[in-house]
Amino acid sequence: MSVFQNHYKNKVVFVTGHTGFKGAWLTQWLLELGAKVVGFSVDIPTTPSLFEALDLESQITHIVGDVRHLSAVKSALNDTKPDMLFHLAAQPLVKLSYDDPVATFETNVLGMLNVLEAGRTCESLKQMVLITSDKCYQNVEWEWGYRETDALGGDDPYSGSKGAAELVARSYMASYYKNDSAPRVAITRAGNVIGGGDWAKDRIIPDSVRAWSQGETVKIRSPKATRPWQHVLEPLSGYLHLGACLATQPECHGEPFNFGPNSQVNESVEVLLDAFGAHWDKAQWALEGTPPVAHENTLLKLCCDKALHYLEWQAVWGFSDTIKTTAQWYGNYYTNPDATPSLTKAQIQHYVESATQKGITWTA
Ligand SMILES: NC(=O)c1ccc[n+]([C@@H]2O[C@H](COP(=O)([O-])OP(=O)(O)OC[C@H]3O[C@@H](n4cnc5c(N)ncnc54)[C@H](O)[C@@H]3O)[C@@H](O)[C@H]2O)c1
Repeated sequence: MSVFQNHYKNKVVFVTGHTGFKGAWLTQWLLELGAKVVGFSVDIPTTPSLFEALDLESQITHIVGDVRHLSAVKSALNDTKPDMLFHLAAQPLVKLSYDDPVATFETNVLGMLNVLEAGRTCESLKQMVLITSDKCYQNVEWEWGYRETDALGGDDPYSGSKGAAELVARSYMASYYKNDSAPRVAITRAGNVIGGGDWAKDRIIPDSVRAWSQGETVKIRSPKATRPWQHVLEPLSGYLHLGACLATQPECHGEPFNFGPNSQVNESVEVLLDAFGAHWDKAQWALEGTPPVAHENTLLKLCCDKALHYLEWQAVWGFSDTIKTTAQWYGNYYTNPDATPSLTKAQIQHYVESATQKGITWTA
């Protein structure tokens, strides 16, 4: 079975942020597709970490480097001569962005700038997929999905940095990536992802897993907040599909794309916790005493019609498959950690099979 047009086989693929939650899943999937992965990250952001649980360091070219330093990004690209690049490195946490706005803007905006600046002179590079966030949109709390043409914005430092990163990319695409010899570039905006192997702070699933694995109650700030929850493999399938389409569909060049769940999958935090908790022996949550100081929007939804129209991309799993798979991953990790790599590969395979059964285009 060939997926993603067999685009990744034997390609050298440069992934920034490969030690993070999404980056480690992407690296594992790229390895399954026969790619040679070069990873570029400043650190391994959590303990435990998916990157370590999968022993990815031994299977790839692992570079420790900072996207805030142009020379480091340039020399990594010059040394490894990648065919493709996925840019995921970021400071991705809203709460931390209030505590350290300067590092957040530097990493997310300067990092984007440096990747685009280094990328435009890297002769081997053919396609670049840049990852920002659904939070790049100016959130006006309306109940319908944001479209790619809606205004960029972002009140909190994280969202603002992602909106600003988009403007950097837009300017670079218009100024430097127009000629035929330049790599083709596209931007992706996805929302909150869940899945096994995330241990970031102040995210609902990792916070719950940390608490429940110690027999504790998880404290919740905004139980009524709704998010377009999706399994991490959903946007990753979009990134991989988009990367392959950039090679064959010039109309995708320079375009942003939303990747989100089907519009009915917009559940509240409390619904998510009740569903996820049903897979644990003792799963309890309680409201955190003080309301959050930080401003966090409560309603955020993406319209994914553009990805459907141009890429024929669609989400594959519904809410219950997403929850079940995530719970299975953590349950396995805490009882049989040695099986983590095989279970992770099996979950990728299972996702591809579900997509194939649904007749999703990238599986053809
Ligand atoms: N996880 C989500 O729910 C979600 C939702 C929307 C968008 N995103 C975006 O997806 C991307 C990946 O998110 P994640 O959840 O995997 O984050 P993560 O925190 O798990 O990983 C972040 C990665 O970036 C690297 N990094 C951080 N600062 C760096 C620097 N200065 N130089 C080089 N590398 C650096 C880290 O080492 C790590 O590999 C980010 O751009 C994030 O904004 C994530």
